[in-house]
Amino acid sequence: MIVCSCNVISRTDIEEVIVDFLNADEWQLITPGKVYQAMNARGKCCGCFPGVIDIIVETTQRYHALMQSPEPRVVDLLNRIADQRLRLENANKRSAAKRQSNMVA
Ligand code: FES
Repeated sequence: MIVCSCNVISRTDIEEVIVDFLNADEWQLITPGKVYQAMNARGKCCGCFPGVIDIIVETTQRYHALMQSPEPRVVDLLNRIADQRLRLENANKRSAAKRQSNMVA
């Protein structure tokens, strides 16, 4: 299934990169930008980024369940990812408001 239509990136492509990152350091914070950079791609419209964050969360949860990682550390990591999602949503709202005010002016 294609997740990013701008770069034609599939869910499987994204999951593989995330697992590679987790294998290198299972506690690192993985961002959509980091994932795309690893694939020599970059966000163009960035409309896929919320979905990519969801895939990061799901893949990270699955990974740590398989590794039987200590739950408090997993919860902390998932909270850091949730903060990242909130920052992205706020940035999107600010951009939309700015575009709207530019259209009015
Ligand atoms: S849909 Fe992914 S950057 Fe546009």
